[in-house]
Amino acid sequence: MINKINEIRAQIDAVTSATQAEVEALRIKYLSKKGAVSALMNDFRTVPAEQKRELGQKLNELKSYVTERINALRDNASSGAGDADMLDLTRTAAPVRLGTRHPLSLVREQIIDIFRRLGFTIAEGPEIEDDWHVFESLNFAADHPARDMQDTFFISRNPDVLLRTHTSSVQTRVMTSQKPPIRIICPGRVYRNEAISARAHCFFHQVEALYVDRHVTFADLRQTLLYFAREMFGPDTQIRLRPSYFPFTEPSAEMDISCNLCGGKGCSFCKGTGWVEILGCGMVDPAVLEACGIDSKEYSGFALGMGIERITNLKYQVKDLRMFSENDIRFLEEFTAAH
Ligand code: DAH
Repeated sequence: MINKINEIRAQIDAVTSATQAEVEALRIKYLSKKGAVSALMNDFRTVPAEQKRELGQKLNELKSYVTERINALRDNASSGAGDADMLDLTRTAAPVRLGTRHPLSLVREQIIDIFRRLGFTIAEGPEIEDDWHVFESLNFAADHPARDMQDTFFISRNPDVLLRTHTSSVQTRVMTSQKPPIRIICPGRVYRNEAISARAHCFFHQVEALYVDRHVTFADLRQTLLYFAREMFGPDTQIRLRPSYFPFTEPSAEMDISCNLCGGKGCSFCKGTGWVEILGCGMVDPAVLEACGIDSKEYSGFALGMGIERITNLKYQVKDLRMFSENDIRFLEEFTAAH
C-alpha cells in the first residue's frame, strides 16, 4: 500500500499544468468515488491492525495533498494559463489606464498658449544662476533683502552661485543675447529658502513675460494683461492695477482680477474684497535695459511675472501647496478630465 501511495504522489507531482478539462479528468481519476485514492481507502479495510495507525495517517495526507494539487492546477487553468479553450476573443479589452497631466503643466501650457497668440515665444534660462543675472542686472540694491541667505539658496559665495529666486533672470539672459524687438515668455522653476507649509514652498513655478521694442507703453501692458485675464479666467473678468514696487520696473504695479469664485461680490477666498492679486508687472526700468546693452532712449519695454501655483489655485482651488509636489495619485487623478 505504501508503494501505491508514493506512486500516486509521483503521478500527481508530474502534472505541472493542465486545462480545465484535464483538471476535471484528474479529479475523476483520483478523487471520485471510483478514483485511485478512494480505491486505496477501500483497501485500507484489509490492512493488518498494527499498520492501521501509520497507513491511515499517510492515506489522509495523500488525500489532502492530491486535493490541494488539483485545486492549484484548477486555479492556474482558470487564470488563463495553459487554457486555450477558455480564450474569449470577443471580450472587451481591459481599459488602459492613461496617466493624467499635472495641474501645473496644464495651467503653464494654457498661459503659454494665450501669450503665444499675442506673438510671444518661449525662452528658457538656467535654474543655477549667478548674482548678476538674478539681482545685479535687475537693479537690486546691494543690501536688498532678497539677496539674503534667508531668501536665496546659495551654492557658493564669491563668486556667488545660487538657485534663481525668480524667472526675471531670463529677461537679462535674453536681453544680453538678442536685439529688440523682444517678445518672450519664460516659464520655469524657482527656489526660495522658505519653511514648507500649506502656503509656502521652497520651490515653485513662475511665468515671466517681456516685451521690448520702440514705443512700448503702459497702455500696451494694460491691454495685454486684460487679454490674458479674460482668456484665462473668462470674458467677464475685470482687472485692477495697484501701484507697487519692484527694483527692475518703473513704474511698477500689481494686478488683481475680480474674484472668480464669487464674481466680485466678496467671499472668504478674496477676504470679502471681491479682488484677488495674481501678478506683478511694470515698465522695464531704463537702468535694466542699459545694464543689458539696450539703448533706453530708443527702446522701452514692459515685463510681468506670475506664480503658476497661484493661478492654478485660482482655477482649481487647491488648498495646500504641498499637494503639487507629493504626487498623491488621488489628487492627480482629479485632473483627468482637464486635458
Ligand atoms: N520677479 C517678481 C517676483 O518674483 C515677479 C515680477 C514682478 C516679475 C514684476 C516681473 C515684473 O517681470 O515686472 O516676485
